[in-house]
Amino acid sequence: MDVMTYEEYIAAHREYFEARLFEVLRFPSISAVEEHRADVKHTAEWFRSQFMSMDLQTELIESDGHPIVLAEYTPPNATDAMPTVMAYGHYDVQPPDPLDLWLSPPFEPTVRNGNVYARGATDNKGQFLTHVFAIESILKTQGSLPCKIKFVVEGEEESTGSVSLDQLLQTAEGKKKLACDCILVSDTSQFAPGLPTITYGLRGILACELFLTGPNRDLHSGTFGGSVFNPAIALTKILSQLIDENGVVQIPNFYDDVLPLTERERGQFAALPFDESEFFARIGLESGFGEKGYTTTERRCGRPTFDINGITAGYQGEGSKTIVPSKASAKFTCRLVPNQAPEKIASAVHAYIATLIPPGITWELSIQHGAVGMSLDLDKSRFVEPMANALEETYGKKPVFTREGGSIPIVAKFNHILQADVLLVGWGQDDDALHSPNEKFSLASFHNGILASARFFQKLADVDVK
Ligand code: BES
Ligand code: ZN
Repeated sequence: MDVMTYEEYIAAHREYFEARLFEVLRFPSISAVEEHRADVKHTAEWFRSQFMSMDLQTELIESDGHPIVLAEYTPPNATDAMPTVMAYGHYDVQPPDPLDLWLSPPFEPTVRNGNVYARGATDNKGQFLTHVFAIESILKTQGSLPCKIKFVVEGEEESTGSVSLDQLLQTAEGKKKLACDCILVSDTSQFAPGLPTITYGLRGILACELFLTGPNRDLHSGTFGGSVFNPAIALTKILSQLIDENGVVQIPNFYDDVLPLTERERGQFAALPFDESEFFARIGLESGFGEKGYTTTERRCGRPTFDINGITAGYQGEGSKTIVPSKASAKFTCRLVPNQAPEKIASAVHAYIATLIPPGITWELSIQHGAVGMSLDLDKSRFVEPMANALEETYGKKPVFTREGGSIPIVAKFNHILQADVLLVGWGQDDDALHSPNEKFSLASFHNGILASARFFQKLADVDVK
């Protein structure tokens, strides 16, 4: 007779959960790099076989980009009143560069000080798997679930902001497949270590690349220097006019649609336990910088920004090479806040840059992807209370509520199109180094996440969606 509770099962399977996590962390599922296409696919297949081993109904949907894996389970006693939860995650990862800064190789998960180090550990394989193992533990011990569950895990979040999943969501068939009452996402961070956090907003994004061309080839800087406009100089001059010394974005009309932070919200941000000097010390800085008139938390969570992600021009090799380069380019992003439309910001960027181009330089602005930000009214969601209770039981503290500075482009689309509540509950930490060398995920966070997630699902037995 099986007498184990799901909580005992979770406690007894720590090693198994870790072993499975390490297995999937070995796949270099870098969606932005064509060479890794097969690795991305193998990762999708790993998830499909994980879901199949749990006896879920499973589907791998091929797309022009990378595959989407769907899995679902409907309990035999399901009624219309029983909630359907969709747990969403992404199995793709950011490129691991610069490789020489990793203390252990990015795709060889290595445990140090209770953390597993690997690209994708926190963003997002480890975090997403907490829900998979929570469901597995309930199914193994109870033979069924207190809710209907759908898993959606895809491989384009980090590169295009989930274009293929968005396309699926636009079709009638896709809407049916993805229909749910609650979208559960663990792809954010806790406000402080061990402080359970429910995130009620995300920033949007606009990602661009600017290409400048001057002479038709690299030139000798002695023969030609001073007689032509150097594209690298043009690029730095243009970029320097996009943001001023007060951290204010200079693109005309950029702030037109920004919803100002309310006094209530500023009060809520100020009440969060935030140690500013520790925050900056952890990233090797004595102080921060940002838009004048706003606190660090407001700048990170509630204000739009402009950032340069990478600049390329001319000779970067060993020693010196005296040239005027033919070309220069830069990748940059604007983080957006709710109510700013990426398309409008893209036009504003284009119009402004057009006024900044010097003579002798031709240019092209490529818009790579965009997503709107969002801010949720959690008072309306019946899923917040069971989650808050599950978090308090697990961490011994009530959760705090905050907005996140990062973006998860598909989430606002899910919210609008599926008309389902969004529940963003992250297990990560600010110093997990997502998108950086030595990305990590705390194994304690992993196991607590599994437990809190399972407790949340258990509590859905009392939630009626009719
Ligand atoms: N997990 C992140 C979102 C995030 C970032 C949460 C920072 C918490 C803190 C997600 O995987 C991500 O990186 N999204 C990209 C989206 C972009 C490529 C469209 C982002 O925010 O840069
Ligand atoms: Zn990411």
